Amino acid sequence: KLILLNGELLSREQASIDIEDRGYQFGDGVYEVVRIYNSHFFELDAHLERLERSAHEIKIKLPFTISELKQRIEKLKKSNNVHSGHLYLQITRGVSPRNHAFPEKAEPVLVAYTKEYSKEPSRIPGRAMFTDDIRWLRCDIKSLNLLGNVMAKDDATVKGYDEAIFHRGEIVTEGSSTNVFIIKNRILYTHPANHLILDGITRRKILSVAASLDIQVKEESFTKQQLLEADEVFISSTTQEVRPIIEVDGQPIGNGKEGDVTASLQAELERHIS
Ligand code: PDD
Repeated sequence: KLILLNGELLSREQASIDIEDRGYQFGDGVYEVVRIYNSHFFELDAHLERLERSAHEIKIKLPFTISELKQRIEKLKKSNNVHSGHLYLQITRGVSPRNHAFPEKAEPVLVAYTKEYSKEPSRIPGRAMFTDDIRWLRCDIKSLNLLGNVMAKDDATVKGYDEAIFHRGEIVTEGSSTNVFIIKNRILYTHPANHLILDGITRRKILSVAASLDIQVKEESFTKQQLLEADEVFISSTTQEVRPIIEVDGQPIGNGKEGDVTASLQAELERHIS
């Protein structure tokens, strides 16, 4: 399988990253994960728009247009003959002698590659734990700096949970690599898309399909207690789609099984997958 490095398609052995790439030394870059279903990218424009926004927020100027980028990744997908799986894409600020200040002259470095895997039944119910959200205050940027996220996920994994759900004070924000939703009396709640969460592409899709299913949506924050007392809880992401959470910190949610609203949202989401 080939790797896209800037404009070139290379074998993994040929592709090399400089030791002074700022992505490597500072986590100074942004990324996206885009799902591929039936050989097509899912919601590609939304992902690329978010990538452009993330780059802009950290003052990385993309050295190519979005349509050039699209051409390159389409070529990569075709060369690798990916039917089902995902694309990982990252852009770092580039290579420069190590110094915290942004270099005046550095060419952003683009790396992208694909992963092939079959579409799995995504609704395997999961168990989660709460964890203090100790991350920074710009979680809206899809940055390569994921230490807060990976440490939370590791803590959850070691303790036998499937996901760590962050909270700031009593307020639930998001999961370590997912957005979090609760359903109470058929109303769907999720944290508003501000600086405290990543505005997930799957999240946006769920909010729009909810409207088409006549499910009332409230982009309002909720507390840990409200989550524990919800009828249903689920998490969402590009790779996990909609995943029911049936237990948090050992306490069952609702009747401890996947809820009807969660199931209907995933079913409706599937109808949008080309
Ligand atoms: N994670 N919140 C965080 C912190 C995330 O890392 C992600 C995605 C999401 C969901 O966003 P989306 O629906 O656009 O995938 C929310 C990706 C998949 C990852 O890091 O692998």
